[in-house]
Amino acid sequence: MAQAARRPQATARPGHHWRDPELVRRFVRGTQKDAALRKREFSMVARLMRAAVDEPETFVDLGAGYGALAGTLLRRFPAARAVCLDVSEPMIEWGQRMYRALRARMEWRWWDFADGELPPDLTGPFDAVVSSLAIHHLPATAKKRLFGAAYARLRPGGIFVNLDVVPPRDEPGRDLLRRLQPAFPGPEQGAFHHQEHGDPLDAQLAALRAAGFVAVECWFKEWDRAVYAGLRPA
Ligand SMILES: C[S@@+](CC[C@H](N)C(=O)[O-])C[C@H]1O[C@@H](n2cnc3c(N)ncnc32)[C@H](O)[C@@H]1O
Repeated sequence: MAQAARRPQATARPGHHWRDPELVRRFVRGTQKDAALRKREFSMVARLMRAAVDEPETFVDLGAGYGALAGTLLRRFPAARAVCLDVSEPMIEWGQRMYRALRARMEWRWWDFADGELPPDLTGPFDAVVSSLAIHHLPATAKKRLFGAAYARLRPGGIFVNLDVVPPRDEPGRDLLRRLQPAFPGPEQGAFHHQEHGDPLDAQLAALRAAGFVAVECWFKEWDRAVYAGLRPA
């Protein structure tokens, strides 16, 4: 990955570097390198949804990108419909092409959640709100707001599941991470993600609890990536 592509411009809003078609093209191709890990992660997201709501009918994918997670879940849950939100026009275009077969159940919407807000007309209530490798772009305050916005869109008993990069909590841990990175699946996965606002896992779990979620747990952790979830109380 070229150096310039890894570094969002200082003036850009969080995550807006993904509006670059070349970066998107490289990401879509690059996901082949960590396909096995993504499969395990997506499977954990699906299992959590199944455990919480059995047969979900509606869910939102925040920062859906080209729709890899939403597409996997729609195939797993044939009664479900997904709303895919993303700020990147090229990602949405890739998704619309790649998941043409699912278009009747996949609604694509351009949306910028950099301030932690969701579209006012996206009222739900939804069975699940999910996300993959997207929320780490936000500073901690916006993350907290976004968790609250997700909570407000869930039906009682609904589940929020986030699969994301979670950096070590101290400098020695970050140093270890830098040394581990060459072994990561996908040669530059770690370097790619850690440029931004990766809050440690503990902080993200605490933010979910503060938003009102219960049963907040991390269910999967591999390398610097975690799948964690919370339920809106029934
Ligand atoms: C690393 S990609 C992951 C895409 C997809 N979830 C996946 O796992 O394949 C990060 C995604 O988050 C989206 N994103 C980042 N910041 C965003 C924001 N402020 N509002 C909406 N989407 C955002 C990007 O456009 C991009 O599609």
